[in-house]
Amino acid sequence: ASTLGAQAAQSGRYFGAAVAAGKLGDTTYTGILDREFNSVTPENEMKWDATERTRNSFTFGSADQIVNRATTRGQRLRGHTLVWHSQLPSWVSSITDANTLRGVMNNHITTVANRYKGRIHSWDVVNEAFADGGSGQHRPSVFQNLLGDGFIEQAFRTARSADPAAKLCYNDYNIENWNDAKTQGVYRMVRDFKARGVPIDCVGLQAHFGAGGPPSNFQTTLSSFAALGVDVQITELDIAQAPASAFTNTVRACMNVARCTGITVWGIRDSDSWRSGENPLLFDRNGNKKAAYQAALTAM
Ligand code: XIL
Repeated sequence: ASTLGAQAAQSGRYFGAAVAAGKLGDTTYTGILDREFNSVTPENEMKWDATERTRNSFTFGSADQIVNRATTRGQRLRGHTLVWHSQLPSWVSSITDANTLRGVMNNHITTVANRYKGRIHSWDVVNEAFADGGSGQHRPSVFQNLLGDGFIEQAFRTARSADPAAKLCYNDYNIENWNDAKTQGVYRMVRDFKARGVPIDCVGLQAHFGAGGPPSNFQTTLSSFAALGVDVQITELDIAQAPASAFTNTVRACMNVARCTGITVWGIRDSDSWRSGENPLLFDRNGNKKAAYQAALTAM
């Protein structure tokens, strides 16, 4: 096939991009989006600070724009994200009572997931809850500090009730190297959830790579998570300077793992990237295909 989405579909996978509502009026942008990608992740529009900036007052305008547009075009949607310590309004992070926070978290999950019920392929239910470094434990956050380790399980149970058809993912960065303590910490959590029947369907590996691309054991990481009985997805791929070989290695690792069901790049053109100074994406500032694009396409 001649596009990323169509080529991925040949093996039952998707190829997606993070999309910003503010760029949907740019016809170069939407031209590439609709030609190449069959999945969309709202880059910021579903985050807590966008959807519930003040308590129990929900705003869905820009998320709706992306969802309605993708739904019309038959593109899948990844929901991103329900519970995250970042882009979190200060009214949440300043809560000091556990029961209050539990109610607030459950209400947020239920309201956002319910609005898009039946239209989200996969939800990043909890994002980036594990600490960097060697601890293998959760990072401090208002959720962790007040609710303890169980906040992640609580979030997944609430999300399942709100949208039973969506695949529920745990999503994080720096969990691509099988030898890292952070990877092992997430692995133990997923193993525990599966053993106890906590509803989890997928692990999202963000894959924000340096110029060296994925670690050599990346495929081992993907297959090890998959062996627990979850899908794996590459959810936010970008690679400093976008070497073609690094994209080849990343895409090949996914193709080699049956339960690696899709890849999302974190933006369309280099100029759209949150790391724009590193030119980490598949299209240049003018919307032209880069060598990395051809590498990704031919690796599928
Ligand atoms: C980034 C967005 O790309 C930026 O526009 C925003 O300013 C900050 O967040 N991990 C995630 C994403 O899960 O939500 C982040 O997206 C990048 C890192």
